[in-house]
Amino acid sequence: MSAKTIAIAGATGLVGNHMLHVLEQRGFPVKSLKPLASERSRGRTVTFKGETIPIEVLDENSFKGVDIALFSAGGGTSKKYAQCAVDAGCVVVDNSSAWRMDPAVPLVVPEVNGDAVKQHNGIIANPNCSTIQMVVVLKPLHDAATIRRVVVSTYQAVSGAGVKALDELNEQSKAILEGREFECKEFPHQIAFNCIPQIPQSNAFDANGYTTEELKMVNETKKIMGDESIRVTATTVRVAVHTGHSESVNVETTKKLTAAQAREILAAAPGIVVEDDPDTELYPLASRAAGKSDTFVGRIREDLSHDSALDMWVVSDNLLKGAAYNAVQIAELL
Ligand code: A2P
Repeated sequence: MSAKTIAIAGATGLVGNHMLHVLEQRGFPVKSLKPLASERSRGRTVTFKGETIPIEVLDENSFKGVDIALFSAGGGTSKKYAQCAVDAGCVVVDNSSAWRMDPAVPLVVPEVNGDAVKQHNGIIANPNCSTIQMVVVLKPLHDAATIRRVVVSTYQAVSGAGVKALDELNEQSKAILEGREFECKEFPHQIAFNCIPQIPQSNAFDANGYTTEELKMVNETKKIMGDESIRVTATTVRVAVHTGHSESVNVETTKKLTAAQAREILAAAPGIVVEDDPDTELYPLASRAAGKSDTFVGRIREDLSHDSALDMWVVSDNLLKGAAYNAVQIAELL
């Protein structure tokens, strides 16, 4: 692959910062790097391969000469600038939800539907973090036994909501331990020492009571797996964890799989590490998955309430496989 000019829109954010590290760690052939952020970051710098690079303020003219732009600056920014980037001749890998369900935009998890990249018209969408780690595990099970239905509950880390949300968790935790009053700004409720529905500041439940995050898991799973017949229901919860999303996943299959068969299938699949030995307390943990790019699966067991279903616990670093790492993998496919 010839070296590319790469722009990162949102380079000062948590995901943007991880994108820099992943490009560096994977030895991505970068000819030059253009870190972009808002006016607020004017004067700041990032370090890439030992070089200090000034942040540029993102505008319509930021993408001249850029080959690939990795966007992680929120849906509004993607809606406003992704097309400018495409018009400038650049391919956009977008981490926001802005384009994910657009039929003209491939929604890609390389281990699942990497070939979809070929159909891009300038924009490729990086799926929702909770969806990515789930479909990495669903795909090999679907190939082996045809999934009928998935019931998932998530335990999502606060870093998925960005730098300010992480600061709020830390400040609230400190305030509570010191017996002080605190404010809720990034979330509608206290997040420290709590579990709350995965929603932004404002109420975001639809008429059926589902959150937007839950519907992302339902709709994106079908699109990535290329199978509208898979039924999915989700309950998404934000928990007081810094990094690493955990998921309880119940998978009903057409053909029965034993837990041992599922373990074998998953252990042979790309991007998955099976951690499943309860006797030695080995099962996936957010604390252990943080900083790693694989998806970890364990506690694989046959559902006692069903003839052909499995329960499992799936964990991954939401900033890496759930965002930055998956985006860089897509860029590598390009
Ligand atoms: P900035 O730091 O200048 O605000 P996070 O999700 O971790 O909070 O990060 C969000 C990222 O998106 C940051 O890099 C932020 O830049 C960037 N960003 C947010 N809004 C804009 C915008 N309107 N234009 C450019 N970058 C933006």
